[in-house]
Amino acid sequence: MMRKIGVFTSGGDSPGMNAAIRAVVRTALYKKVSVVGILNGYQGMIDGLMHELSFSDVGNIIQRGGTFLGSARSKDFLSAEGRAVAYNNLKRMEIDGLIVIGGDGSYKGALTFQNEYGIPINGLPGTIDNDIFGTDATIGFDTALNTVVEAVDKIRDTASSHHRVFFVEVMGRHTGFIGLDAGIAIGAEMALIPEELTDIDSIVVYLKRIRGQKKSSIILVSEGDDAGGAIDIMNKVKAQLADFDVRASVLGHMQRGGNPSAYDRILASRLGVKATEDLIKGTYGCAYGVKGNDVISLPFDLAIAQNNPIDTSKLRVIEILSHC
Ligand code: F6P
Repeated sequence: MMRKIGVFTSGGDSPGMNAAIRAVVRTALYKKVSVVGILNGYQGMIDGLMHELSFSDVGNIIQRGGTFLGSARSKDFLSAEGRAVAYNNLKRMEIDGLIVIGGDGSYKGALTFQNEYGIPINGLPGTIDNDIFGTDATIGFDTALNTVVEAVDKIRDTASSHHRVFFVEVMGRHTGFIGLDAGIAIGAEMALIPEELTDIDSIVVYLKRIRGQKKSSIILVSEGDDAGGAIDIMNKVKAQLADFDVRASVLGHMQRGGNPSAYDRILASRLGVKATEDLIKGTYGCAYGVKGNDVISLPFDLAIAQNNPIDTSKLRVIEILSHC
């Protein structure tokens, strides 16, 4: 019998986390279960930073970026001692189950914690990276993608005025989901992603070939690319194309902020309701997501065992559509 649950956000924040917290809190209250908001992810669990949330505490947040509970990547929670302190704090607050909103690192922490202490946990995929296995989309990816598209459209304006080549770096330490989809959406000349080896010479050959045929070129670089970030790659290319006018722009953390898109609010709300209802009725240890139009769930260990496969055939779409 579940009387009180805890909710927290963990890892890098993402737009839509607030909508997810709201969904968890209101679903629990609807089911007559109390909810405690834990501040700053697993670290707040260790530091004992938690308080009960009411219906109105999560009012007026569905449209806000960031996470009002705060988030962190907790080093202390990686140790058994840290987790023991966290568990004792949860017990003291009489918390019977948890909902974690975060990426795969947060899921790994949840699985370890659940195995050690038997505390029931369900997870919602909150990350802009879209790198969680088992779901077509993570909460925040769509918003981040649109933020990138808006920013790069602006870069395109100035790039075209000055006939420049721009290397634009987008987030994605290990995966190229943002770079790949944004590449199609902004009409990039190329997208360099961590899943594919980058060949500087072929970039040089390509830029020489299209010189004079295009007003500007935009090459999107995922931050985890094997050849380096946008500035490194620009310098390597520039070394071979001294007379080209090239620039680099690193979009950085602006990609993680901003009001969540309608898609992310809907995704967060649907997954939040389902994960909370399931937790309350005794189904737990699951990562939630969407497949097509359906809300699905899979055990944490399956969700963290694999990488979300990226559709590299999209690179061909970029290649064909930028060919001239
Ligand atoms: O995991 C989400 C993410 O935004 C990555 O794309 C990025 O590499 C990383 O977080 C940045 O983390 P931090 O905010 O800790 O610098």
